[in-house]
Amino acid sequence: MTTAKIQYAVFPVAGRGTRFLPATKASPKEMLPIVDKPLIQYAAEEVLSAGVSKLVFITGSTKRAIADHFDTDHELEAELEQQGKEELLQAVRGIVPSWASCIFIRQSSPLGLGHAVLCAKPVVGNHPFFVHLADDLIDSPVACLKQMAQVYDERESSVLGVETVPMEETYKYGIVATEGRDGRLSRVTKIVEKPKPVNAPSNLAVVGRYILTGRIFEKLERTGRGAGGEIQLTDAIADLLADEAVYAYEFEGKRYDCGSKLGYLQATVEYALKHEALGTPFRQYLSELTGKLSVK
Ligand code: G1P
Repeated sequence: MTTAKIQYAVFPVAGRGTRFLPATKASPKEMLPIVDKPLIQYAAEEVLSAGVSKLVFITGSTKRAIADHFDTDHELEAELEQQGKEELLQAVRGIVPSWASCIFIRQSSPLGLGHAVLCAKPVVGNHPFFVHLADDLIDSPVACLKQMAQVYDERESSVLGVETVPMEETYKYGIVATEGRDGRLSRVTKIVEKPKPVNAPSNLAVVGRYILTGRIFEKLERTGRGAGGEIQLTDAIADLLADEAVYAYEFEGKRYDCGSKLGYLQATVEYALKHEALGTPFRQYLSELTGKLSVK
């Protein structure tokens, strides 16, 4: 069991993943594998390492595979046991430890990220919680949310995972203005969803990692449709700023945007290079291949 202050993690996984069609027509984008684990499993491992015991998935149609992935598959386990495939057995058994529980809530209409997070209110109540967007895969020595949880332990305030992006890409992200920078931490003074570069208050972008206080639900209940006609989490955080301190934390690690095909391929290649069994033969293959490649 864990005694971490943050016990809940919310995974908004109802989005259709249109950028990966037709691969995501009948199966969730969160089930796309990076080498041998689906994105959502990396997400679960990150929050578990930060001490979470309740994993709350906000799901939609075509997302049943996610619930199946986190459920016990007795038939498969019996088969692997019978065949003496101990390593594989541990791999399927150890996905979620017995002390953690998975809760699934259906988002009835795709009204946006803010609406998805609000769907978690009946379970999370007034507790602080993580929000994890599985598209953003972060490779770091200490899990990104674990780094952020240390900030929460000290400040007991909302914390947003941020990184600097090229100015011309501000339209893809929630962008913050900050003050009082101290190492990796600064205080958010403003947050805007997907501004054009000319309107952006900076090029410090929110990535898919949040720690939010229970107060955010009050704000979300009053948040109207914003950018793209959706109920935006960013707008509710902007409201929260009037009442509470919100911090931006420049995490240590490398982020891969697995919601884009290029980011997904980059993550696949780099995780394969680090893979215990595959790393060496894959490196050899790549070095032979790159010797033959020319960049046009
Ligand atoms: C969402 C958020 C945005 C954030 C981004 C991080 O956007 O709305 O503020 O910067 O995730 O990946 P989406 O990528 O879902 O359009």
